[in-house]
Parts: sequence; structure tokens; C-alpha cells
Amino acid sequence: MQLVATIADTRKLTQQARRDGRCIGFVPTMGALHEGHASLIRAARRDTDFVVVSIFVNPTQFGPNEDYQRYPRTPEADWALCRQEGVDLVFNPSVEEMYPAGFCTWVEVTGLQDVLCGRSRPGHFRGVATVVLKLFNIVQPDIAYFGQKDAQQARIIRQLVRDLNLPVEIRVCPIVRAADGLALSSRNAYLTPQERHRATVLYRALQTAQKLVSQGERDALLVRQRLVELISATPGATLDYAEIVDPETLRPVTQITQPVLAALAVRIGSTRLIDNMILTPPDAEHQMDGTDQSDMEGGRDS
Ligand code: PAJ
Repeated sequence: MQLVATIADTRKLTQQARRDGRCIGFVPTMGALHEGHASLIRAARRDTDFVVVSIFVNPTQFGPNEDYQRYPRTPEADWALCRQEGVDLVFNPSVEEMYPAGFCTWVEVTGLQDVLCGRSRPGHFRGVATVVLKLFNIVQPDIAYFGQKDAQQARIIRQLVRDLNLPVEIRVCPIVRAADGLALSSRNAYLTPQERHRATVLYRALQTAQKLVSQGERDALLVRQRLVELISATPGATLDYAEIVDPETLRPVTQITQPVLAALAVRIGSTRLIDNMILTPPDAEHQMDGTDQSDMEGGRDS
């Protein structure tokens, strides 16, 4: 495994791999790697011949009062995980390498960036879209892997690829959860044992919503209300949002007649956690389940 910090070295190695006829798979991360990240790396390993992982805590996607300074950084453990998972190249740049003095170009995916997490984290998705486009230009992958855990992020990246004709295929992988259902997240490390226990309410609430829908409930406001009640009944949990939205537009729906995205953001103590689930009404089970959607715009020559 090669570990590189510069854009020039990354380009050199990925260009060589491309010249050798290898298909390049790419997993962008902010490090503090866990099984969720490992599942994306394994998918890339399975589908492609040269796997690149980027580890970069991207300052431009954190708000001024967010946890950029405090975000967990575990470089040695991350490199070990990558080595163990058979990653070919880890790109681990500095902030100066990615954002040299004078940097002033930004990418915005309007509309999609302003709802759900975008409402309480203004500027977040501008930072995400900008860094992901930069990383795509540096690595030039054939296939890039994202987690359904960050459903809005995945939706925004698919739109970015479509709108700017980026020659990369996006694959979205299922959410990896702990045994008690909590979605794995680097931010789970902030939770005290008591908070960690309370944090399971996100998954339990989503499961309740799924049950209602599979029993035939079609009223999205009622399902949403149930999510709100379950979160409110949990000590130490504060709701940021609970929404039932169209998975494409991310706009709220009133009637559940097709698969919908139930999305939650909840503060447990001072830690903000997100989770989501695709809820499929009984008569729409043949439709998409929200994972493994792929999008390909442009296309490579070979
Ligand atoms: P990060 O939070 O490190 O996540 C990297 C990738 O891992 C994302 O695509 C995320 O959805 C996926 N992931 C995280 N937890 C997961 C889980 N429990 N199951 C499945 N996939 C999971 O998302 C980012 O970094 C950044 O915004 C980034 C895209 C790297 C841009 O800076």
C-alpha cells in the first residue's frame, strides 16, 4: 500500500494504474475509520482493480461552531485498516495541499443542499460538494463509493456528477449498524456509555416507522409524528429534524404511495447523530430500496 500526502504523487500513481488498464475505485473519507468505511472499501476491492482511499478532515464542510477541531483523528489505525483491507493507495493530504492560499472556487448543488441537514448546517454541503469534486479531479476514479448513512450527501453527489457530466459512476452502499442498531459513525466516539445507550432511539424510531408503513399506513404526517414522539420521550435527546421525504427531491411527502426516505437528525447530549431508512409501502415493494443506486454520466473511453 502506498501512503501519499501530495496531489502530484496521487496523480502519478493513479495515472500509472490507468495506463496499466486498471479500473480505479475510490472511497473518500474523513478518517476515524470503522466497519462502515470498511464496507465501502470492500465493495471497491470487489468491483475494481486499484482502490484509492482519501483521508481528509475537510474544514470547509464544518460550520464555525461545529466539531472540526475535535473531530477524531486516528491516522495509524486508519492506515492499518486500509492495509488490512487491501487498499492500493491512501491519499492523506494536509489542509494547505487541498486549500492553498487564495482558494476561492466553490460548488453548490442548489435546492438539495438547503433541506434536511442543510437547514441546520448552512454551507456544509457546499464544502462537501467542493472537496468531492476536487478529489474526483485528483484521483479520476471510474467508480466512487458512498454510504447510504449520509443519504442526502449521496443524493447531492449523484446530482453533482449528473449536472457537471463527471465521468465517474457513483455506488451507494447500505448502512452498517452496531448489533443494537446504532448506525456506525466516527462521531459515536463522543458518546458517554449512557448516551451511547440512548442513541439507539434513532434506529428504534425508524423501525417503528417502517412497521407502520408496512402495516399499510400512508399518512406521512402521522408517521413523522410517531418519530417525533419517540425521540421526545428519550431523556437527553433533542430533535433537530424528523422528515419523510421523496428520495429524489428530498422534499416532504404527505402520502406514502412509493418508497420514501425517513431521515432523522438528533442531538444526544452535545453529539449530533443522523440516521435514515427507506420506507416501502406494501404495494410498492418491487420498487427501489434506496441502496445500490448508481448513476453514470459521460463515461470513459475504454
Ligand atoms: P465520512 O463521514 O468519513 O464518511 C465517508 C463515507 O463512509 C461516506 O460515504 C459515508 O456515508 C460512509 N459511511 C459512514 N458511516 C457509514 C455506515 N455506518 N455505513 C455505511 N457507510 C457509512 O462523508 C464524509 O466522510 C465526508 O463528507 C466526505 C464525503 C469524505 C467529504 O469530505
